[in-house]
Amino acid sequence: MTGGAGYIGSHTAIELLAAGHDVVVLDNLSNGTRAAVEAIGRVANRDVPVVEGDIRDPVCLDRAFAEHRFDAVLHFAALKAVGESVAKPLRYYQNNVAGTVCLVERMAAHGVKTLVFSSSAAVYGDPGTMPINEDSPPDPTSPYARTKLIVEGLLHDTHAADPGWRISILRYFNAVGAHPSGEIGEDPAGVPMNLLPSVAQVAVGRRELLNVFGNDYPTPDGTGVRDYLHVVDLARGHVNALDYLATGTGVAVHNLGTGRGHTVFEVVRAFEAASGRQIPYRIAPRRPGDVVVSCADPGKAGDELGWTAQYDLRRMCEDLWRWQTTHPHGFRGGKA
Ligand code: NAD
Ligand code: WQD
Repeated sequence: MTGGAGYIGSHTAIELLAAGHDVVVLDNLSNGTRAAVEAIGRVANRDVPVVEGDIRDPVCLDRAFAEHRFDAVLHFAALKAVGESVAKPLRYYQNNVAGTVCLVERMAAHGVKTLVFSSSAAVYGDPGTMPINEDSPPDPTSPYARTKLIVEGLLHDTHAADPGWRISILRYFNAVGAHPSGEIGEDPAGVPMNLLPSVAQVAVGRRELLNVFGNDYPTPDGTGVRDYLHVVDLARGHVNALDYLATGTGVAVHNLGTGRGHTVFEVVRAFEAASGRQIPYRIAPRRPGDVVVSCADPGKAGDELGWTAQYDLRRMCEDLWRWQTTHPHGFRGGKA
């Protein structure tokens, strides 16, 4: 898997190992850590080989394909900060698009034609009608989201040119939470951009208060609504996707979400209950580019992959809190 030292990849590695697969991680450690891969090994009680390298480096990829026999590639490696992608778009096109071109070329050269790609609900932009199903017309609103849609397109074209490919495109909604072991979780470098890591850092005392970006949206309490999905549920979805690809060639697109939306205040209250801490907050202006509501229709993944999310918001907060309290400074700060 590419990007296996990162947040979602590391959780997916654990689920793949539990399902009887072998895993090799390739990661350039730009946002992932060796400590995450060591934690995968501890939780799964298995050694996980790591190739430190870049998906844009064909020599490194050829070496990995020569040293291991792969049945499939799960492709997580990407840059993912929406705001940074507006300021540095070419970095995002270079890493996410050119990187995927290089990876897919080397896969084809080595006869490995089964791929699971980490796409994003961000490709939908602000479709207006909820919940969002896979037929909603894509309308990405950031360079980051556009890189995801371009990669989806190049994967469709790759299959059209060579129908032997088996490709699963998974559009993730908001991945949150951590592994229940407390050994592995999200480890944002610097100030977190996303809601749950911010809330957790306020609860643990690393930050003074939470900025709530807007309380005048047309939602039940005025704050934005999102489909938060436990990262372990998301990870399990990849095992289902691989099983699905074993049944035939083609390109399949699936939303992975719970189908339930929660407001920012609901998240704050759920985290207060899970942690027993108060989360001080202030109302800040709306964040540019935010949509009002984003909520998945996960029916297609249910019907075709046999996958549904099992964990609720309370469980997402409890597991995140366990990770945050045992690793208040993430992998980079060591265990408390
Ligand atoms: P992450 O940053 O924790 O993991 C990505 C990993 O890829 C990191 O370990 C990083 O070091 C590695 N990487 C980046 N560029 C690389 C390159 N050129 N070569 C090799 N390794 C490289 O992010 P994540 O949250 O685990 O996201 C995984 C994937 O899921 C990404 O493709 C992201 O765009 C997508 N996604 C994430 C979310 C979310 O809510 N976190 C939602 C939708 C989609
Ligand atoms: C959720 C809600 C904010 C932080 C992002 C990417 C998306 C995908 C998942 C990769 C919104 C509010 C947030 C804060 C707040 N990633 N909020 N205070 O923006 O839905 O999705 O991550 O593909 O592409 O855009 O997630 O967690 O940033 O925000 O009030 O400090 O929380 O306004 O309503 P988002 P988020």
